[in-house]
Amino acid sequence: MPMTESKRDTEAAAVAKTGRAPSYYERHIFFCLNERKGGEECCAQHAALEGFERCKTQVKAAGLSGPGKVRVNKAGCLDRCAAGPVAVVYPDAVWYSYVNNDDIDEIVESHLKNGRVVERLLVPGDLGR
Ligand code: FES
Repeated sequence: MPMTESKRDTEAAAVAKTGRAPSYYERHIFFCLNERKGGEECCAQHAALEGFERCKTQVKAAGLSGPGKVRVNKAGCLDRCAAGPVAVVYPDAVWYSYVNNDDIDEIVESHLKNGRVVERLLVPGDLGR
């Protein structure tokens, strides 16, 4: 359904006032699921798909999914492969590296549900590709 002019005006007024649009989701988490051929290092080699699926399941089970709440999305390479598997939460711009379901569950419960960053899982700021 196309956006009406008045809704567009409301959106534009919010951007003019705050410098950013109202967020459709409170938080958005992107999981790198990139897979490289030939055995080259990538997040897919480190159970990224399992982490993504666990997060989706846990977010839904906690009643956190949907507009105004949380969205869990797949992503291609996020160019922080050396920390893989990685996920990033926006608008907070917090990067995580995870190993198992316990890590994912803690990200969901602490960060996505309660807004508290899980410091033990943070990707060091200088770790890139
Ligand atoms: S392959 Fe996952 S960040 Fe590059």
